[in-house]
Amino acid sequence: MDMKPVIVVHGGAWAIPDNLAESSKLGVRDAATCGFSILVNGGSSLQAVEAAVQILEDNIAFDAGHGAVLNADGEVELDAIIMDGKNLAVGAVSCIKNIANPIMFARTIMEQTPHVMLTGSGANKFAEKMNIEKVPTEELVTENAIKEWEQYQRYKQSVTSLFNTERMHDTVGAVAIDSMGNISCATSTGGITNKMVGRVGDSPIIGSGAYADNFTGAVSTTGHGESIMKVTLARQVLFNMEKGESPQCAAEHALEYMKNKVHGRGGLIVVSKSGEWAASFTTKRMAWACAENKILSYGLNPGENFQEKINM
Ligand code: GLY
Repeated sequence: MDMKPVIVVHGGAWAIPDNLAESSKLGVRDAATCGFSILVNGGSSLQAVEAAVQILEDNIAFDAGHGAVLNADGEVELDAIIMDGKNLAVGAVSCIKNIANPIMFARTIMEQTPHVMLTGSGANKFAEKMNIEKVPTEELVTENAIKEWEQYQRYKQSVTSLFNTERMHDTVGAVAIDSMGNISCATSTGGITNKMVGRVGDSPIIGSGAYADNFTGAVSTTGHGESIMKVTLARQVLFNMEKGESPQCAAEHALEYMKNKVHGRGGLIVVSKSGEWAASFTTKRMAWACAENKILSYGLNPGENFQEKINM
């Protein structure tokens, strides 16, 4: 098979403030370009989504890895998932600490254990066994994350009321199809500021934060985790496509369904088995980028679609 490779990435759907707009756009463009160069050099979609998400995890503009938000105790607890649409293999981690690239660890779990997800201290123990580098919490925590956390403590606002204002940082993700027609997805997050210790959101939950199946396509989601889980948002998009909808319609209908049914807002990226793709959101902004045919498309505000040539 000789498919046209495509990668789409997102940096989280929320009310991104103007002071993070440029770094968010730059960050998703870098991640999509890196993933695309892997695809055009014969790499797999799994390698491409893992590399793209690692770049986003390393970028402090985003809520994942470095730059993750803090839980109620002021700690970092991270969630991630990676899925291979060829055989529905999945690896996920939840509530892990002191690991800079949870997506790489999720892939290790997929490939080195008989399980789908490891959580908490057991996951960290396995990371040690696999010689995955342990980083001090301070290395992952940014000034912004501390400021946001202090604001929550001062005003004692509830997680729910703040979510309605879309002030939450949120999640990164990637979906891709490679030249063999194999489709993959990856999602990684620090969750939501001031979350209860031990809270797990949608991101590492199969069918909610991500799903990939060569038969249909791949999706990575972002937004209010408790809402996304209730409607299994990622799988919902693929169900819509299986009924004959285009990726764009399937994405919009699934997000609309979530808004109407559980009053949740969010965003998602999707690629189909024929390489059609969409980036859609019901929040104020979502940074996204797509690379295909040596063209990079990207946007942040509703309806935006800038394009430039990729020099490689
Ligand atoms: N969407 C990320 C979270 O709610 O944890």
